Amino acid sequence: LKDEKVKVVFKLADGRRLEAQGAVGDSLLDVVVNNSLDIDGYGACEGTVTCSTCHVVLKPEDYDRLPEEAGDEERDMLDLAYGLTDTSRLGCQVTLTREMDGLEVLVPESVHDARS
Ligand code: FES
Repeated sequence: LKDEKVKVVFKLADGRRLEAQGAVGDSLLDVVVNNSLDIDGYGACEGTVTCSTCHVVLKPEDYDRLPEEAGDEERDMLDLAYGLTDTSRLGCQVTLTREMDGLEVLVPESVHDARS
């Protein structure tokens, strides 16, 4: 079902937990934007893979079951992100599936806008 809702939790470095709903096919960035989530500086390039401010860290088990691996563009941009981990992705490049309902991702404290 296309309009199925998927719950996502964004855990921020300051301890806040922001819960939001997205639709299947939305990116994590879409979820942040559509719910007007208050995450400072997030998604500065609006999903054009030029900023890395949408960096999220996934739990290893979630990372492993994402349907798509990071592409070249995403990897290059992740290399510029602060606090890069083995389970880092760009939120604008992660698309929600029904299976991801309840997903929790960590938003690292420092965001780095690669354009600056
Ligand atoms: Fe800029 Fe994802 S929003 S790289």
